[in-house]
Amino acid sequence: MEKGARIFVCGHAGLIGSAIHRRLEREGYSQIITAPRSQLDLQDAARVSRFFEEYQPQYVVLAAGRVGGIVENQTSPADFMDENIAIQLNVLKAARKYGVTKLILFGSSCMYPRECPQPMAEEVLLSAKPEPTSLPYAISKLAGTYMCLAYNKQYGDKRFIPVIPNSAYGPNDNFNPKSGHVLSALMSRFHEAKASGAESVTLWGSGSPRREFVHADDIADACLYLLQQDVSALEFPLNIGVGSDISIKELAEAIVDIVGYKGRLEWDRSKPDGAPRKLLDSSRLRSFGWEPKTSFDDGLRNTYEWYRQQVQSAATGKQ
Ligand SMILES: NC(=O)c1ccc[n+]([C@@H]2O[C@H](COP(=O)([O-])OP(=O)(O)OC[C@H]3O[C@@H](n4cnc5c(N)ncnc54)[C@H](OP(=O)(O)O)[C@@H]3O)[C@@H](O)[C@H]2O)c1
Repeated sequence: MEKGARIFVCGHAGLIGSAIHRRLEREGYSQIITAPRSQLDLQDAARVSRFFEEYQPQYVVLAAGRVGGIVENQTSPADFMDENIAIQLNVLKAARKYGVTKLILFGSSCMYPRECPQPMAEEVLLSAKPEPTSLPYAISKLAGTYMCLAYNKQYGDKRFIPVIPNSAYGPNDNFNPKSGHVLSALMSRFHEAKASGAESVTLWGSGSPRREFVHADDIADACLYLLQQDVSALEFPLNIGVGSDISIKELAEAIVDIVGYKGRLEWDRSKPDGAPRKLLDSSRLRSFGWEPKTSFDDGLRNTYEWYRQQVQSAATGKQ
């Protein structure tokens, strides 16, 4: 991929999209195309097609989509299906029509069967039903992933690369304690508890479920690697993980340490734990030569530093 290649990063303000945008800029790519939703709603097929016609992107990273937790999946299941399927359909169709060289689409580890042998290998997809609480999201992401495979098969190439990162974290994550992902939500909860001098923080479940966390910079690194290499020998989709997981209890303790919260952690065992383990088998991508570079400690520290600065600028802005 030449430094002057036209690369469209959809969802460039989000957690993963912003990491990709940062990385491309750092590497000296000079023609990065972005469009906020106000300029281009990716659900609008005609506008997406016109956008591709006008800007002629050669590479596309589709990091835009409707993301959310259990509550939103339960209250707005139609929106999840509708928005993600429309975005993926519109972008893939336009990419094929206007001759995009390579496109990366993000699936999710929620697509894997609920009772899945660990670590979860790509071959296991569709062997059983995903977890019912995130089914609308999982099905919409399966649709995008298998659309990529269908296009590649029909047109005899490997232009569309579906990847499956495990739980992402980093700058620009959603730190809302109610709607954010577990890692960022814990960070903001401990930060607020420290600021208010709270004696304890109560967390859901037993703390025993294990999760794999991938820094968004490592996801960006894997994407850049896939855009730059000849991927014709690879089988898709491709898991993107770090190869190890930690318990939620260990995660909470690591964040408490970084935030410097001195109060007690209490576990409300009457609340559900979720799946006991969600670790990806990333050997397909690793045997292709890619490996993650961010240590968990460094990743947590730079994420917290970013969050602290946001809180500080918000407070200064209000004064
Ligand atoms: N985060 C994870 O742990 C994770 C793990 C695996 C896979 N993924 C997948 O990776 C992708 C990116 O996730 P993320 O966590 O980076 O999400 P995110 O932080 O919520 O960012 C999503 C971005 O998509 C944009 N967007 C949504 N709908 C749009 C539309 N109709 N038109 C234009 N832009 C639209 C959003 O713009 P607004 O700011 O205007 O809403 C936002 O910038 C998603 O497809 C997700 O399913 C995420």
